[in-house]
Amino acid sequence: MKQKIKLLGLLAGLCSGQYVSAQLKVNVKNHVAEVSPVMWGVFFEDINMGADGGIYAELVKNRSFEFYKPLMGWTIQQKHFREGTVIVQNRQEKESANPRYIQVLLNNTSKGELGLTNEGFRGMGVKKDVRYDFSLQYRTENSGIKLHVELVDEAGKTLGGETIELTPTNGKWTKKKGGGFVAGGTAMKGKLNIWLEGNGKVDMDMLSLFPSDTWKGRPGGMRADMIQMLADMKPGFIRFPGGCIVEGHDLSVRYQWKKTIGPVEERQLIVNRWNTEFAHRPTPDYYQTFGLGFFEYFQIAEDIGAEPLPILNCGMACQFNTAEVVPMDELGPYVQDALDLIEFANGDTNTPWGKKRAEMGHPAPFNLKMIGIGNENWGPQYLERLAVFQKAIKAKYPEIKIVGSSGTDPDGDRFNLLDTAMRRMKVDIIDEHYYRRPEWFLQNASRYDKYDRNGPKIFAGEYAAQSDKTVSVKNENNWQTALAEAAFLTGLERNAGVIHMASYAPLFAHIDGWQWRPDMIWVDNLRIHGTPNYYVQKLYSTNKGTHTLSIAGNNGVPAGQDSLYASAVLDRPNKEVIVKLVNASGSAKEELVQLDGATPAGKTGTVVVMKNELSTVNTLDNPEAVVPSAGTLPVKGNKISITLPPYSLTVVKIPVK
Ligand code: AHR
Repeated sequence: MKQKIKLLGLLAGLCSGQYVSAQLKVNVKNHVAEVSPVMWGVFFEDINMGADGGIYAELVKNRSFEFYKPLMGWTIQQKHFREGTVIVQNRQEKESANPRYIQVLLNNTSKGELGLTNEGFRGMGVKKDVRYDFSLQYRTENSGIKLHVELVDEAGKTLGGETIELTPTNGKWTKKKGGGFVAGGTAMKGKLNIWLEGNGKVDMDMLSLFPSDTWKGRPGGMRADMIQMLADMKPGFIRFPGGCIVEGHDLSVRYQWKKTIGPVEERQLIVNRWNTEFAHRPTPDYYQTFGLGFFEYFQIAEDIGAEPLPILNCGMACQFNTAEVVPMDELGPYVQDALDLIEFANGDTNTPWGKKRAEMGHPAPFNLKMIGIGNENWGPQYLERLAVFQKAIKAKYPEIKIVGSSGTDPDGDRFNLLDTAMRRMKVDIIDEHYYRRPEWFLQNASRYDKYDRNGPKIFAGEYAAQSDKTVSVKNENNWQTALAEAAFLTGLERNAGVIHMASYAPLFAHIDGWQWRPDMIWVDNLRIHGTPNYYVQKLYSTNKGTHTLSIAGNNGVPAGQDSLYASAVLDRPNKEVIVKLVNASGSAKEELVQLDGATPAGKTGTVVVMKNELSTVNTLDNPEAVVPSAGTLPVKGNKISITLPPYSLTVVKIPVK
C-alpha cells in the first residue's frame, strides 16, 4: 500500500515535471576523517532568562534583596499600614557578597495582616502534586514568630502551603527549611505569600522556594525538563557561560567563575548584561544569582556525558559596550583565574582548588580538556592578551586545548587579522561565529572544503540563521532557518577533518523574558518546546558516526548544486552508513544512493525526515509542527532509491557488513 501511494506520487510528480533525479555515490572505504567525538554540542548563556528564571529552578525573584531596587519582585501586604514595619537593611561592611536583608517589626500581628508577596520571575510555575521546599535565613530574639507560607494561583486561590515557627537565634543568622508542602493545583503564573504572625523583630534573607522535581531530584537544583532536552541531544560538549556575558558590559561585571562556587548565599549577585542591552527589550529585573555556577555546570556536563568547554574573560569587556581592557601588566589575575579553573576541574583534592571541588561534593576530577579565552573579542588587544594566556596555560597544562576567538563575524578584516594571527600562534581551536541570513548558510556549505587540514581545528561556536537580521525582534525559528542550517551542517560533517565542534546559539529563551531571538529551545513556566533548529541539530548529534565518508553526485560534492546538500558518515561500532540529504528546493527530488566498498547487511534501511512549509514554526501550544518522522526503506543490492520531499532534511541509515 505504501509502495502504491509512493508510486502514485511519483507518477503524479513525473506528469507535472516535478521530479529530477541524481545519483550519489558514497565510498564506504574512503574514511576521509574521524568525526570528533565532541562534534555536536550546546552553547549555554544566561540570556533570555536561560539561567535565573529558566533552568535554575529557584522560584523567588530577588530572594536576597540585592537587586538595584531592593524590593523588586516583592510586594508588602499590610492590612493596617504602619511606617517602618518593613525595612531593607544593609550590612555592607560585614558581608560584601550578600549585604542586604529585610527586617520586619511585628506588633501582635495575626496571620493575614502583614506579609511579603513574591511575584516570581514571570510568575511562578506551580505543578499539582509536586512538593515545594521553602527555606530562609533569619535571626530573631523573640519567640513565637511564625511564617505562613503559601503558593497562590493567578486568582489568589491557595494551592498549598505550610507554617514555619522561628525560634530565637540569639542574634545569629540561622538557616531554616520548612518541611515541604505539596501543591494541590497547577498555575502558570502563581505567587508566593509569606504571612507573618507574632510579636517582635525578625531579620530575613535568602527567602527561597524550589520545586522538588528538579533534575536528578537535587535540592536547589535545575529544571529537569530543560536539562532533559539537552540530554536527549547527546551533546558532545557544553560551552559555558557564553557569549557576551563572559565579557560583561564593563570589567566590573565580567563573569568571574570563582564568585559562582560555594554556598549559594555567598555567591555575589551581579546585574545580567542583557538587563539593559537592548532598549527595545529592556529586562530591568534580570540579574545573575549564580545558582547555576561553575560547579553545577561541570556537574550537568558530566550528568549528560558532555565535555565542559568553559569560556573565560581575556581581560577585555564587551567591545560593543565599553570596550574596557585591563592593562597588560595587570592581566595576571585573569590568567590565574584560568589556571585555577583548570585546577578546580581536574586538580587533585590536595590542591587548593581541587579541595574546594571535593568540599562541594565531587572529589573526582571533571576531566576538563579544553578552555576558551575570550568570547567575541577582536583586534591586536585581544591577540596580545591571548598570547599571555596561551603561554601560561601551555606551560602548566600542555594537554589542555585552547580555543581562541575569531570575533563576531566569519569574514572581513577583523576575522582575517585574528584568523591569520591565531594560525601563526598555533592556537588549537578557532571559534567562528555566524549569525547570518538563511541564504548565507546555503551558500557556505562548502566554506570548509579548502581549509588547511594541518592548521588549527575549527569550532563553529555560535551559529543561527536569522530569518530577518541579527538582533531583530522579528527573527523566527522557522523551518526555513533550520533547513538552511541543516544544509550548512552537511558541510561541517563533510569537513570533520577540520571541524572539531559546532553549537547553535543562543540555547534557551523564556517566552515572557527573552531579549534575543532566534533561540533553540523555548520555555514558559511550565512547558518547553524544541524549535525545528533543535531537531536538526539533534539529528546530527545523534547520528554523528565515527568517520566521514566521501560522497559525490553527478556534479561532484553535493554542496548546493541543484539545491541538494549531502554528507555521509560511517558509524563503525554500530556498522551503519548514515547519509544526510537536504533538499532546499520547493520540488521533490528522486535520488539514488549507492554504497561503494561495503555490502549492506540487510534489505532494509531506516529513514528519518523533516519537512514542512518554510514559514512553519513550533510553539508551546503546537510544539510538534516540525519534528522528525521515522520510517523504513528498501535496500536493493548496494543501492537505495529515495524521494526527497520539497524543503526537507532526510537522514538514511543503512546497516553494512
Ligand atoms: O548568542 C547571543 C550573543 O551573540 C552572544 O552572547 C554573543 O557571543 C553573540 O554576539
